[in-house]
Amino acid sequence: MRFWRDCLIVSIAAGITLSGAAYGQSASLLSEAQWNSPATDDVAFLTRTPGECLAPAKKPGVEYQIELGRAAFSSPFLFGGPAARSGLSCNSCHRDGRDNPDFYLEGLSGAPGTADVTSSLFSKTREDNVFNPVLIPTLVDIAGQDSFGVTAPQPSIHDFVASAVAEEFQGVATPTIIDGIVAYVAHLNAGFCPEGETAQTSARAVSDIARMLRTADTAMIRGEAATADFLLLSAQHQLGLVHERYQGKGLMMERGLVADLSRRLAEIRSGLHEGEDNALVATAGKTALALDQLARVERRLRRKEQKSLYNEEQLRRLMAREPAPQ
Ligand code: HEC
Repeated sequence: MRFWRDCLIVSIAAGITLSGAAYGQSASLLSEAQWNSPATDDVAFLTRTPGECLAPAKKPGVEYQIELGRAAFSSPFLFGGPAARSGLSCNSCHRDGRDNPDFYLEGLSGAPGTADVTSSLFSKTREDNVFNPVLIPTLVDIAGQDSFGVTAPQPSIHDFVASAVAEEFQGVATPTIIDGIVAYVAHLNAGFCPEGETAQTSARAVSDIARMLRTADTAMIRGEAATADFLLLSAQHQLGLVHERYQGKGLMMERGLVADLSRRLAEIRSGLHEGEDNALVATAGKTALALDQLARVERRLRRKEQKSLYNEEQLRRLMAREPAPQ
């Protein structure tokens, strides 16, 4: 597929995900906008999201599942194959758990906002040799439905997600992670939508990363090394997205701090593989230190946010400099 040839494959250098934009697809150099249709206002897309409608957990223990699912929802490491390498996650299509009228991927989409979920682009096993893109639906308030998906209908969210991750995207998620995603999707509830759109800021990115680290901490205390590893890797991916936003002049210090933190997470991950329960608990302490470091980094990021690509003006300037080579 032309797209994959053209796409700079995600590389992980020092734990930082440096993802190239899909040149020819979008005016943006930021990987968060790489699935945007040519008609998308990339600046608006990169500064605001629809807003997440997440209901709180009612039972103890469910909160951990929801937080794990929430992290997995925006993690490309859930998927195997080409989808993971390109940085695609559930959130790329279901933005904040909703739809995404801007989503466009050549070979997979018809009109913007649609995707063919039975395409060989993502999976060998699901290809039906028919180009049948359908609208990406919102996942808010779907929990009560008795069937999920129209192309390959499934009787439960669990069956849909397990089959999507395994077949559609050749993913390798564990049952714990799948259960987490199901809990997250089941808690998307219109009664909890924020009023209006949500601003995309460094503080919001840092808060997402902090939630992943706290969840990794819980996973370690529960003795779930593989889950903790996945969460830390997912946090590293999010740090990579923050790093991309601080690419301007005079932001070297901030980029360096983000890279340092990512390396610290990589170190914690390597400690996890020692495999003993005691080692896991000791490693959980290190996550607390990483959280402190994150709080310090956040203050620096916030101070320079005006100069970063979280800022609308800076984004406009970047877009003006880098027209889409179409
Ligand atoms: C490439 C875009 C894309 C990605 C990535 C994606 N989805 Fe979807 N999703 C769709 C489309 C398109 C449909 C509609 C499919 C259909 O009706 O057959 C859908 C349908 C669903 C449904 C059924 C909704 C309903 O009301 O029936 C669920 C649940 C869902 N997706 C969850 C997820 C989760 C969880 C992930 C990540 C593991 C994910 N999706 C990743 C595009 C995507």
